[in-house]
Amino acid sequence: MDIAELNQKHAIANHVAFREIADGMPAAEISNAHAKAGIALQGAHLYAWQPDGHEPVIWLSEFAKFAPGKSLRGGIPVCWPWFGPHDSDSKLPAHGYARTSMWDVVETAALPDGSTQIRFELAQTNQMREQWPHAASVQLQISVGRTLQVSLITANTGDSPFTLGEALHTYFRIGDVSNVAIRGLDGCSYIDKVADAAHQVQHGDIVIDNEVDRVYLDTDADCIIEDRGLKRAIRIAKQGSHSTVVWNPWIEKAEKMGDLGEDGYRAMVCVESANALDNVVSIAPNETHHLSVIYSVEPLD
Ligand code: BG6
Repeated sequence: MDIAELNQKHAIANHVAFREIADGMPAAEISNAHAKAGIALQGAHLYAWQPDGHEPVIWLSEFAKFAPGKSLRGGIPVCWPWFGPHDSDSKLPAHGYARTSMWDVVETAALPDGSTQIRFELAQTNQMREQWPHAASVQLQISVGRTLQVSLITANTGDSPFTLGEALHTYFRIGDVSNVAIRGLDGCSYIDKVADAAHQVQHGDIVIDNEVDRVYLDTDADCIIEDRGLKRAIRIAKQGSHSTVVWNPWIEKAEKMGDLGEDGYRAMVCVESANALDNVVSIAPNETHHLSVIYSVEPLD
């Protein structure tokens, strides 16, 4: 569907319109009484959310490339149907193919509370089915308002069960990494990816003063990013997600990545609502699984 058709079918005045943000890259731009947001159709990738009266909540690298087949550095990459490297084939893309593939817009709606809802479905191809041979449909539903609500919905449309890894790999914008603490994971076990996958236990809040790449397991807990620099707390409240990934590449890794910027690591942290490693989910035929997150922001006293 081109931009004109998208607008004809799905635009809603004072809520959502479609435009090309780069060559061949359509996006939904949402602006309503509560907030503004932007979502690229490639990856159903939300790249901005700013509730009125607040600074932007979502971080997007100034070097992010809006280009076909390339994942944006920042926003909310959707990792599906596996998280991290593929189990057995290192040539397959990290975090699955959903984040770099086109999604269709299924519907848009203006909700009674003034927020805007948009639902996408991954347009599956034979190449995807070769990489992951299971009968599944996947949708992403986003509601933009004073809070941001995101649901990743996977249905088993076949006749045998399958196993799924997934994440909403959200990059949050912070004032400075030295003024941030992440609460909610005290006492939780994690796999430390920067220490040869050692099993560790979290004690107290997470502070970031080096590369951090951890998969916290068996946790449904809300997380709070307490940002004393921007004087705000971001709450991440989730359902249907049993892992939380906390990631900051720090200096050396960021340099190698090339699209994070020299000081990018100071201005972002990822707190990802996931089902990863031992928490991958098994979905039976005719079953539908939801991974849902509500993001909200409040001032810090
Ligand atoms: C995190 C992983 O979820 O994503 C890290 O735990 C990884 O290991 C990071 O480096 C970024 O991944 P990518 O593929 O977007 O560079």
